Amino acid sequence: MSRFFCSLLALSYFLKISISAATEPTPPSEDPWYTAPPHFASAAPGDILRIRHAPGNLTSIVGNASAAYNILFRTTDSHYKPSWAVTTLFIPNSNTSNRVDAHNASLLSIQFAYNSANVDSSPSYGLYNTLAAPGLGIPPSTEDISQTLGHGWYVNTPDFEGPLASFGLGIQEGHATLDSVRAALSSKLIPHPKSTKYAMWGYSGGSLASEWASELQEQYAPELAFSGAALGGMVPNFTNIFDNITGSPYAGLIPLVLLGSTSQDPEARDYLVSRLHQSGPYNASYFLHGLDIDVNTAFGVYAGQNIYDYFIGGRQDIVGNPILQPIFNRNGYEGFHGVPRFPTFVYKAVGDEFSRVQDTDALVERWCSVGTPTWYQRNLVGGHIAEITNGRGRAIEWLKTVFDGTYKPNGCLVEDVTVNITSITA
Ligand SMILES: *[C@@H]1O[C@H](CO)[C@@H](O)[C@H](O)[C@H]1NC(C)=O
Ligand SMILES: *[C@@H]1O[C@H](CO)[C@@H](O)[C@H](O)[C@H]1NC(C)=O
Ligand SMILES: *[C@@H]1O[C@H](CO)[C@@H](O)[C@H](O)[C@H]1NC(C)=O
Ligand SMILES: *[C@@H]1O[C@H](CO)[C@@H](O)[C@H](O)[C@H]1NC(C)=O
Ligand SMILES: *[C@@H]1O[C@H](CO)[C@@H](O)[C@H](O)[C@H]1NC(C)=O
Ligand SMILES: *[C@@H]1O[C@H](CO)[C@@H](O)[C@H](O)[C@H]1NC(C)=O
Ligand SMILES: *[C@@H]1O[C@H](CO)[C@@H](O)[C@H](O)[C@H]1NC(C)=O
Ligand SMILES: *[C@@H]1O[C@H](CO)[C@@H](O)[C@H](O)[C@H]1NC(C)=O
Repeated sequence: MSRFFCSLLALSYFLKISISAATEPTPPSEDPWYTAPPHFASAAPGDILRIRHAPGNLTSIVGNASAAYNILFRTTDSHYKPSWAVTTLFIPNSNTSNRVDAHNASLLSIQFAYNSANVDSSPSYGLYNTLAAPGLGIPPSTEDISQTLGHGWYVNTPDFEGPLASFGLGIQEGHATLDSVRAALSSKLIPHPKSTKYAMWGYSGGSLASEWASELQEQYAPELAFSGAALGGMVPNFTNIFDNITGSPYAGLIPLVLLGSTSQDPEARDYLVSRLHQSGPYNASYFLHGLDIDVNTAFGVYAGQNIYDYFIGGRQDIVGNPILQPIFNRNGYEGFHGVPRFPTFVYKAVGDEFSRVQDTDALVERWCSVGTPTWYQRNLVGGHIAEITNGRGRAIEWLKTVFDGTYKPNGCLVEDVTVNITSITA
């Protein structure tokens, strides 16, 4: 069949898309809606494959929304092969105080730190449970949505890890984030997409997706013109986080990221599993339980453990290993695939115990040296968790100025700040 005929077939298929009715919230692993339709591979990245009203009554969970939709779209996985992912698009209600002209709308893509190797933790479903509950002493993620909807913004929250829950595969996460924005803009749910401004926001695991989208944008989605990206609690050097959090209350991130980053490489997953002890307190079945749980549960399950103890050869089975390290090299170090071509606001606690501040300092310096306008605030107070709260208002205020056009990027500004608005000290 000719390429032309194939694309005609694909086109006629995709033109038939209409918005299907809401159902009850169902875990993605059990919901047939979360599957790729036939011919999806011949659609272009960002093309919409399916769209439905979000299940249940999401507007009763997320304030300031008049409607919410799930969009299933074509994307590209970490091997640069056709794949698909889902996003949730929220429409602001009409009585928000800072309502903007529809001709002048703003779209914020929030990448949540869902940090999971389990597809059922994806935001499109987590919004009904884990993301709607407080955790680690911070407010529910759904409040980030209602707050920003309250500024009259459309809000996009992609399941950027994709159908295999590829936590830690930066290329996958970046592509899916960019394609979710393409899908949102072409959905006809935003009335004047050409004059709509758009920006990204993410903290920690959400900064991974947002930063990877930022550095891949120029190559992968050159037609997108972001107004900016707010990136908090960045994790530019993937393997350092292993050394920094093993043995800590947050050690549970490590099993999840190792499972997520081997999700698209069966050989690497087999290797990972083959190196786990079969018995003793640190054994394969306990480690693989990480496939079934969300990140807050994992913090409890693996708290304080030295995760290297699960492996026959300890740390060297992971870091520097010839099967795993190439995956980390492609997907785990920021700043090698490109640089953001739009303004960024970077905020980071100097005392961040997940990812040392020097790694973020170095990335920002790299960006600044090639002209990425960056405003970098290093908070002298608090650690990784505290900065979620300490930084939230600063990020939203910055996004506001980016959308209303009052932000005037002026090269690079690196400054130490002292912001302490939370009683969390970690
Ligand atoms: C959904 O929730 C909103 C807000 O709580 C309520 O006004 C609306 O009636 C609900 N819709 C349905 C169909 O239950
Ligand atoms: C406007 O906001 C109020 C509360 O802030 C809410 O009860 C009401 O449902 C909102 N109106 C619409 C149209 O969503
Ligand atoms: C629309 O955008 C223009 C230019 O960015 C700005 O001056 C104006 O205030 C915006 N209007 C509204 C209603 O936001
Ligand atoms: C709606 O947005 C405003 C402005 O961000 C915020 O103050 C308010 O709490 C939000 N309402 C709800 C119900 O979340
Ligand atoms: C990550 O950090 C480690 C430890 O400082 C360093 O050896 C390594 O070169 C860094 N990797 C990259 C890609 O920057
Ligand atoms: C974090 O990991 C890096 C690289 O292994 C190491 O140099 C640094 O001392 C660690 N920092 C903390 C606080 O553990
Ligand atoms: C695996 O580890 C868990 C937790 O330490 C323990 O409860 C379980 O008995 C262990 N299983 C095996 C087969 O050793
Ligand atoms: C930050 O404020 C809290 C009270 O909310 C206080 O307990 C804590 O000591 C302060 N931290 C610093 C470094 O000032």
